[in-house]
Amino acid sequence: MFDLTNKVALITGASSGIGRASAIALAGQGASVAIAARRVEKLEELKKEIEGKGGKALVIPMDVTKKEDIEAGVKKIVETFGRLDILLNNAGVAEFASFFDMTDEQWDKTLNTNLKAYFHVAQAAGQEMAKNKWGRIINISSIASGGVAVGFPQVVHYCASKGGIVGMTEALADELAPLGITVNAIGPGVIETEMTQGITGDPQQSQGMLARIPMKRFGKPEEIASAVVYLASDEASYTTGATLYIDGGWTAS
Ligand SMILES: NC(=O)c1ccc[n+]([C@@H]2O[C@H](COP(=O)([O-])OP(=O)(O)OC[C@H]3O[C@@H](n4cnc5c(N)ncnc54)[C@H](OP(=O)(O)O)[C@@H]3O)[C@@H](O)[C@H]2O)c1
Repeated sequence: MFDLTNKVALITGASSGIGRASAIALAGQGASVAIAARRVEKLEELKKEIEGKGGKALVIPMDVTKKEDIEAGVKKIVETFGRLDILLNNAGVAEFASFFDMTDEQWDKTLNTNLKAYFHVAQAAGQEMAKNKWGRIINISSIASGGVAVGFPQVVHYCASKGGIVGMTEALADELAPLGITVNAIGPGVIETEMTQGITGDPQQSQGMLARIPMKRFGKPEEIASAVVYLASDEASYTTGATLYIDGGWTAS
């Protein structure tokens, strides 16, 4: 089950958190992983870790807001591994700003990184998948995406971007199904990463959040990575257009 031998995966935002854990998990199932982000030194460390366990990794310096980085990255992957089968669209930013003070710069940075870049990376990677009539696009959204009754203050730009990802996932699932490409999203709850340190490391904020989570704990990046492996696999062959919420029961409560 979940064998990814001979598959090639691109993971954006692989330098930390969910992306890093997912790269390790995908490589553990046999995929060759192209690990992309801006902090190249962190990617080099990850490459060593994956190769130390017998896996194959390729470092891709990439600012996902730069189309030329995306195009050069995908070209390098195909030159190195000959194909591209799986995309984990994961790179993201979350910065707090109250609604009336939010600047255009803050809005644009969030939407460009969290939504427009997902479109650009999926477009470049999807073209390679279409050549082989097989592909997996997995987009990391959030429980803060609309439709699941979880709103957060001071991140209207972030919530808009994550809701956009769900819409994009459904539209792409429809359009790419005839090409053998499935498109799914994952909506994590609060996962312990660099992004959430301000919440998980603050007792008062933690308490407020934990009160809303039936499992009474935050998630680990590895608990998202295991769903990434499933959605990337042949076993998920009839799953497309879905958003899987992994949140300790938050959205169900
Ligand atoms: N943690 C949570 O509770 C949670 C919940 C719901 C959704 N998510 C989503 O999960 C995804 C991963 O977040 P995380 O929690 O793992 O946070 P993280 O540890 O802060 O990781 C964010 C990653 O995004 C990369 N990144 C940011 N801007 C980039 C850019 N312009 N170009 C390329 N890479 C960029 C960062 O790499 P560099 O800085 O090296 O470029 C880093 O690897 C995000 O989309 C986030 O919104 C997280």
